[in-house]
Amino acid sequence: MEKLSTQPYKGTRDFYPRDMKLRNWFFGVIRKALETAAFDEYNGPMLESLDLYIAKSGEEIANEQTYNFTDRGGRRLAVRPEMTPTVARLVAAKMGELNFPLKWFSIPNLYRYERPQRGRLREHWQVNVDIFGCDTFDADLEVISTAIMLLRAFGADSSMFKMHINNRRFFNDVIATIAGTDAEGSRKVSKVVDRKNKIPREAYVTEMKNLGLDDEKIEKIDSLYTMSVDQATSLCPDSVGSAELLQLFSALRECKLDKYCVFDFGIIRGLDYYTGTVFEMFDEAPENNRAMFGGGRYDNLVGLFVKNTNISGVGFGFGDVTLENFLVTHDLIPDIYAQSTKVLVTRFDDVPYAKYAATVDKLREAGIVSSVYVGTKKFGKQIDYAVKENYTHVVILGATEVVQGTVKIKDLATHEEKTIEYYELANFFKKRK
Ligand code: HAM
Repeated sequence: MEKLSTQPYKGTRDFYPRDMKLRNWFFGVIRKALETAAFDEYNGPMLESLDLYIAKSGEEIANEQTYNFTDRGGRRLAVRPEMTPTVARLVAAKMGELNFPLKWFSIPNLYRYERPQRGRLREHWQVNVDIFGCDTFDADLEVISTAIMLLRAFGADSSMFKMHINNRRFFNDVIATIAGTDAEGSRKVSKVVDRKNKIPREAYVTEMKNLGLDDEKIEKIDSLYTMSVDQATSLCPDSVGSAELLQLFSALRECKLDKYCVFDFGIIRGLDYYTGTVFEMFDEAPENNRAMFGGGRYDNLVGLFVKNTNISGVGFGFGDVTLENFLVTHDLIPDIYAQSTKVLVTRFDDVPYAKYAATVDKLREAGIVSSVYVGTKKFGKQIDYAVKENYTHVVILGATEVVQGTVKIKDLATHEEKTIEYYELANFFKKRK
């Protein structure tokens, strides 16, 4: 019979202990930074009703990218491709009890049926940061400054990344002014603009022309891609979106965050639910040309679940794949594998196991990472094992030591051996921690 493959499913990753150490480190940095900024963690199920994504995520995600199936009870379900509809459901379900504004975060794994490539896999973990229940631009500012803070927590500076910001209301108003489109027409144009950097220029022009835009209109839109926020908003001074953009950029300047941010008319975001501010964080290194974060303001997601309700949300999602590419490219990963004290208690046949179990209990009570050797190999093999598994010390407790009430400690880096009183064991390592 043909053997089964040891490869993980296409676009997913196995995390061996070394890989877990890295991801636990970077999620640890993120969790600490977010908790320090008073965000609370939540989670939800991996399976949701498919309707949730059909209703709001947008055609690409719902139709092409979800893993979906019908369960035995005939329900149409999807493995979550994103977290925002889930968190909107959580908020809607307990609206009356929650204290707004909410500052929430989560680090779920998500599945999308995509073509695996650099920065894009079929399973990724995504840090989601959202604020619910604040209608003013203060929440947009807080969310953007949190995104910047997260990268700074890894030691990144403004030469390494830029937040590209636009506004959906502004976009729709400018497109309507230039191209004379209605809301649906502007939405269609936005889909082409969103794919601008992913398709050849000729295809972009053809798609715009198919939507009724002539060369002159296409050129006018082209000029917006390089404009500053002041130039762009002057084209549509009465738009609510213009006012929102100007207010946000002025606050960013006052908070000295403008060096991390740039206005970019090309930022649309593929998801349909955004209504105001939209942004994407880019790595300045050209090899990582995908957005590291994406997010924005969505004014009506909670309204999907509860009639006549309007609880706004602003937030972003930040993928672990793009984060790792960023940290590696900018050499921001410290030596997380550096050894701290880790003790192996070796075993001999003539000492009862209970003695070793009691010894390791004492070490663990003192917070020392330790284990009894699992198995019955000879002493020499136990030492080889300890060296390969990055133990820093072995504890040697043979029949002689037990009778004397002592214990031998071998330092595996220096090969020094020392005999101490048995009762001093935990203290010996505590002093070294
Ligand atoms: P998104 O732009 O679809 O937004 O994803 C956000 C980030 O997740 C991307 O910038 C990227 O870092 C990462 N990401 C997305 N898809 C993949 C993939 N296939 N492989 C690796 N990384 C990926 C959302 O999902 C929104 N729900 C974010 C949000 C939260 N908006 C408001 N709150």
